[in-house]
Amino acid sequence: MSLQDKDRIFTNVYGFQPWNLAAAQKRGDWDNTKDIIARGNDAIIDEMKASGLRGRGGAGFPTGLKWSFMPKESKDGRPSFLVINADESEPGSCKDREIIRHDPHKLIEGALIAGFAMRARAAYIYIRGEYIREAQTLQAAIDEAYSAGLIGKNASGSGYDFDVFMHRGAGAYICGEETAMIESLEGKKGQPRLKPPFPAGAGLYGCPTTVNNVESIAVVPTILRRGASWFSSFGAEGNHGTKLFQISGHVDKPCVVEEEMSIPFRELIEKHCGGVRGGWDNLLAVIPGGSSVPLVPAADIMDAPMDFDGLKAVGSGLGTAAVIVMDKSTDIVRAISRISYFYKHESCGQCTPCREGTGWMWRMMERLRTGDAAVEEIDMLYQVTKQVEGHTICALGDAAAWPIQGLIKHFRPELERRIHEHNAQFAPETREAAE
Ligand code: NAI
Ligand code: SF4
Repeated sequence: MSLQDKDRIFTNVYGFQPWNLAAAQKRGDWDNTKDIIARGNDAIIDEMKASGLRGRGGAGFPTGLKWSFMPKESKDGRPSFLVINADESEPGSCKDREIIRHDPHKLIEGALIAGFAMRARAAYIYIRGEYIREAQTLQAAIDEAYSAGLIGKNASGSGYDFDVFMHRGAGAYICGEETAMIESLEGKKGQPRLKPPFPAGAGLYGCPTTVNNVESIAVVPTILRRGASWFSSFGAEGNHGTKLFQISGHVDKPCVVEEEMSIPFRELIEKHCGGVRGGWDNLLAVIPGGSSVPLVPAADIMDAPMDFDGLKAVGSGLGTAAVIVMDKSTDIVRAISRISYFYKHESCGQCTPCREGTGWMWRMMERLRTGDAAVEEIDMLYQVTKQVEGHTICALGDAAAWPIQGLIKHFRPELERRIHEHNAQFAPETREAAE
């Protein structure tokens, strides 16, 4: 079943209507928020657990469960905080940008309700530095919400005091990692911390903190208005709800669109993007969840359900649902080499396997791109990715290793072809014939 218009949460994703408070209220935002809060902290968390919402930032951790890790009582008078991750930097991802541009009040109302449920004193929205216009819109929406008494003292007349602050990042991809984000908010260099402790135990300023993605928070008010069973009626078991997909690359109409989780890949592309450029026979491979997940060759992706488990079954992942479609004109080795360069550039340098390994992997990828390598080096590169994967402080190491592993697994003949062609070109007999 694919999603009907009436079931969409983000009804203004294309910005056909204004983003401002008056227009947002006409769309149903901020409608009796006080009554939702009156249900109580635990009832809200239980409803979120029942909805089956899994984190929309990429990892898919159950949102209600994450909130339940927050303490019910303050220790030593320490406050709790909600941090909202708007540092959207995963190559291919651009959904949080659309929410902030066109529906910022869903995010602010969601922050209030989520913050109340987890007993937080305030929310910090950390927005990527490059989102300049989006930051202006978000700040203007926060100001509107304060002026209307929706947040701040006695937020929405609920008797609960809650502040929302926006903080702009400065262009480092690694600040999207939740503990690096916390360090950055504290005014330090954005470098990930070792986990555990998880932020719910020791987060911002050492206080209990939950970090959630923009989309995870923006869907909260609608889930609580329409009910957990409405949300969980979409998608396959363990993969419930609706989801913003961001489809780029070689499709006829790239777009950001809300769809039911678990929609098959082919249906998603045909329904919203007008198909693959040059027809389905022209599809080479797809990166289905942003650059951190392995590519999937055409034959394996066609009928795959676009959800956490369905994409895991074909050796990849949903990640942020940034679907990068590549047709047969793509130089797939060059594409993955470029991704390797990205991770080398964005490594924070804190741990050796990532700092050194990302550079090694990129340099080897560049030699494989030109064919200037020995066939045995393909296995050597694979071994290097295995030395990086799982041996680093944060997930950036894995993210750098997986795309290369996917390339070797599915496109080894192409890597070998380049090496053989390059070697033939520089073989003595070829050189003599040319002379
Ligand atoms: P993770 O799996 O380590 O953690 C996910 C969340 O669950 C975190 O908030 C963590 O604190 C919490 N958690 C996990 N285990 C827990 C436990 N035992 N107790 C308490 N809390 C626990 O994944 P991570 O590193 O947060 O995110 C990796 C994902 O981020 C990747 O899959 C990638 O797709 C995505 N990503 C998204 C980007 C974007 O622009 N949206 C950028 C880069 C990566
Ligand atoms: Fe930094 Fe890379 Fe280590 Fe993450 S894995 S902490 S980005 S060096």
